[in-house]
Amino acid sequence: MGRVFVAGSINMDVVATAERHPRIGETVTGDAVLYFPGGKGANQAVAAAKLGAPTTLIGRLGKDAFGDELKTFLAAQGVDLSLVQQTSEAHTGTALITIANADNTIVVIPGANALVSATDVAAVALAKGDVAVSQFEIPLPAIGAFFGRARAAGATTILNPAPAIEAEHELLDLVDILILNESELGFLAQTELRDTDDPACFIEVVRSLQAGKDKTICVTLGKRGVVALIDGKPLIIPGHIVKAVDTTGAGDCFVGAVAAQLAAGKSRHDALHYANAAASICVQRMGAAPSMPTAMEVETTLSACRPPKAGTHSHRRQL
Ligand code: ATP
Ligand code: RIB
Repeated sequence: MGRVFVAGSINMDVVATAERHPRIGETVTGDAVLYFPGGKGANQAVAAAKLGAPTTLIGRLGKDAFGDELKTFLAAQGVDLSLVQQTSEAHTGTALITIANADNTIVVIPGANALVSATDVAAVALAKGDVAVSQFEIPLPAIGAFFGRARAAGATTILNPAPAIEAEHELLDLVDILILNESELGFLAQTELRDTDDPACFIEVVRSLQAGKDKTICVTLGKRGVVALIDGKPLIIPGHIVKAVDTTGAGDCFVGAVAAQLAAGKSRHDALHYANAAASICVQRMGAAPSMPTAMEVETTLSACRPPKAGTHSHRRQL
């Protein structure tokens, strides 16, 4: 089995829940304030580790109470933290999140995440069969250096270009698997996309990126599931019908699950099906990193989807 290496952000998510989101300039009274471990890098690493992949996180925390708390949490999830540094130069990354009707708004203050550099990834011992994962919450030169090393070692690279920002072609050329949501795809393709658009429309936009036949591009569509282009062939995976309470980290769960499956030697096709099931579990719980499922929970969901025996009901899916 390969190892998953995640170079990415680590945040404390400060979450306010309310009946509805405030309009600009408006104040609403909320229900609760909650503190959850988060950050796209940490969430993806926790997902991969809980799904059984040996996982190393590369990142930075501040030398403060949030930093200490996050370190304890991540270690308890089985994530290797030997390449996470605590620095006194900046505070731990913090995300201010509001949740209403299972939908969120997020403001991220990078803090120590902004200090992750090419030097931080220089000690990563990547090998063939490993999977290198990153997102856009750490500086791009660090991601470029990380993926450059991964490619040289024969590892698979996965980029989740979130939040959407301009990136050089040189960086995108180092990516084997791109996993993004519809608004990130719209940003990359410079076109307007809505989550209600037809799956065929997303496939067409993905094709328009002309990313090269061996690159896999996977678009997550929330409750509608996933569409992807693998080896030039389209794949549509309907979402699982569940009651979502908090979708924060669903995309991260998906990415971490794909990485864990590829590190275990599974095909891209099977990895995406598995990740779609894993992420549907994540949305049924509050919080980002704490809502990542175990391998056993994913197996239970997947077995509910297998063809039913006569006289029983099958698990429902939607797209
Ligand atoms: P976030 O930024 O909040 O982590 P995202 O926009 O990157 O989310 P989504 O496309 O919303 O990611 O969700 C990722 C995956 O999670 C989906 O492709 C799907 O597999 C699963 N998912 C999300 N929301 C739901 C839902 N309501 N019901 C079932 N599955 C869901
Ligand atoms: O993708 C969800 C994550 O984005 C949250 O955990 C928050 O920290 C922001 O980084």
